[in-house]
Amino acid sequence: KNIIHYDSIHSTNSQAKLLCDEGLQEGSVILSEEQTSGRGRLGRNWSSPKGSSISMSVVLKPEINPVHVAKVTQISAAALSLAFEEMDIQCNIKWPNDIIINNKKVCGILTEMSSELNKINYVVMGIGINVNIDEEAFPDEIKSIATSLKIEYGKQISRKQIIASFLKYFENLYFEFINTGSAESSFEICRKRSLLLGKNIYVIRGSERTPATAVSIDENGELIVKYEDGTLSNLVSGEVSVR
Ligand code: BTN
Repeated sequence: KNIIHYDSIHSTNSQAKLLCDEGLQEGSVILSEEQTSGRGRLGRNWSSPKGSSISMSVVLKPEINPVHVAKVTQISAAALSLAFEEMDIQCNIKWPNDIIINNKKVCGILTEMSSELNKINYVVMGIGINVNIDEEAFPDEIKSIATSLKIEYGKQISRKQIIASFLKYFENLYFEFINTGSAESSFEICRKRSLLLGKNIYVIRGSERTPATAVSIDENGELIVKYEDGTLSNLVSGEVSVR
């Protein structure tokens, strides 16, 4: 398989998109030791310190309706949790895209797509993992919400092992989705490890926070929430927090 490794790059997702426009093949993996303008969801920055984090983007060209692309994020979250479990690391999945240990974020997923009408040109699935980052290296404003595997487990963790194990699980779950049209086994893993299900949460839209309860993750991978007036709603993606 095609693995491209950089010492430093602006963003592995942005670089993957540039290379896709030049015809980069499906299954290619872009890795970088550091990102100088790593991107998170909702226009946020993502910091990836040199050598102690994983910044990885996987190029996919699924022949599916673009409306189903959000499922890829959850397939990836499920695969990450299996990879962590294999290394005796216990984590939760915070729908739709965060991996959480001890209530702090250790990993985020940013899935981006280029499509025309109902046809996908490519999908870039990017993962950032805080692996061997020391506590002092986190900026003060995120210390209370972010952590690394090293902080939680008190030892260096092999980045190679995480990447290899993740790719193995991701490949299985992803092809199951492509071949059967169903990502149910990934959703089942997301439910089992969910940080949100059964909890009181806020659904966040811009500056508005609406209290609700996280009821279930349905067969499409959507989060079903119940508002305080009793109405149910499906979230396809978006932002929620635990109350
Ligand atoms: C989030 O939690 O908001 C998503 C963070 C995603 C970060 C990864 S690091 C590799 C890839 N390249 C980027 O610029 N972002 C993603």
